[in-house]
Amino acid sequence: MKTNADLIVSNASEVVTCASATDAKKGAQMLDTGRLENASVAITDGCFAAVGSAAAIDREFTSDNVIDAKGKSVIPGLVESHTHIVYAGNRVGEFELRIKGADYLEILEAGGGILSTVEKTRAASEEELFAQSKKRLDRLMSGGVTTCEIKTGYGLDLKSELKMLRVILDLNRKHACDVVPTFLPAHAIPPEWKGKEDEFTDLICEDMISAAAKILSSEGEGPFFIDVFCEKGAFSLEQSRKVILAAKNVGFAVKAHVDEFTNLGCARFAIENGAVSIDHLDATSDEEVDLLAQSQTIGIVTPTVNFNFGSTEFADARKMIDRGCAIAVSTDYNPGSAPCPSIQTAMAIACRYQKLLPAEALNAVTINAAAALGRQTTHGSIEPGKQADLLILETPDYREMAYEFGWNFAECVIKNGKVLV
Ligand code: NIG
Ligand code: FE
Repeated sequence: MKTNADLIVSNASEVVTCASATDAKKGAQMLDTGRLENASVAITDGCFAAVGSAAAIDREFTSDNVIDAKGKSVIPGLVESHTHIVYAGNRVGEFELRIKGADYLEILEAGGGILSTVEKTRAASEEELFAQSKKRLDRLMSGGVTTCEIKTGYGLDLKSELKMLRVILDLNRKHACDVVPTFLPAHAIPPEWKGKEDEFTDLICEDMISAAAKILSSEGEGPFFIDVFCEKGAFSLEQSRKVILAAKNVGFAVKAHVDEFTNLGCARFAIENGAVSIDHLDATSDEEVDLLAQSQTIGIVTPTVNFNFGSTEFADARKMIDRGCAIAVSTDYNPGSAPCPSIQTAMAIACRYQKLLPAEALNAVTINAAAALGRQTTHGSIEPGKQADLLILETPDYREMAYEFGWNFAECVIKNGKVLV
């Protein structure tokens, strides 16, 4: 007697499982993709029931609902671990200024950059914000993203930060993509607090964090994250420390933007405080890379930012993997430093400029990215019991996804066992 499955994806040229039980892949493990040739996947109740050779799945399972994946590669749904996609307007004017030579941090210093998005986001209604952001999430999902982290950080006052947070939670409820919320009130110093950075930091620690914790803890699904932008012209190490500790204290898990332009020492502090991820890592020291390798923290690199700045210098993800770190790759999709909704493009850049092999890049946007969201037990790989999020690619070889760039290889997106795209 065969077992009845809700859906079988059968006969794929390869099923690249990225299996790793419940852990991120570190160092040389990032080369291991758990690839099975001529394989099938059985799905029941929105979860993977089994994955194995086409013959074995055929012996064990039957279904009224079979997708023939002959000639195709099947991979896990992609996990986008770092975005700022809830915002109003765009920064195409700033894009032109930078083409003519303006510097990203100098634009911010002059009240533009992140702060120009803050102005527009504060002025937008919750409905407008939702509508604009949903389109961006649709774009990510059509490119294969089935789980997406989204940060606040363009409100920078209590009312507007909570507005952003509600939009993020609403996207999670209404969109097929799983959305993981991150609270980022320490993203920039808003104009009304210029010169009073410590006082603004106190306001974050005393009022904003507890208000956000109240909303997030009633939402059920955890963990939820705090994040800070530790950078010259944004938050100092001391201010970042205060924010991280205040948030940890009321149950937030920790993320931090560190070393994007300047090393202020936040990588060490975040790792020592059990950060789930530290993000960017362009100016991270060898000593900090070794600390990262010894920790459970995931290093998220965002090569789309460097590409967007027209730079040929990138975070040295190759060295980080060689020294034993667990690395995730993200688009950092946002209106300023990385207006890029394509995680496949991020993979393509990571392979070329950070010297990741396609196998490493795939683990970096699946199991390791899931671990960077604390979701590695349920997301990020094709393994029995995990959520049935998978992609059918229009190629028999997943490596083509990084090789041919500027194209979307996700022909079919399956989320929780349901065909979406
Ligand atoms: O990850 N660096 C800070 N935050 C974003 C950029 C946000 C923006 O430019 O609007 C980043 O690069
Ligand atoms: Fe960011």
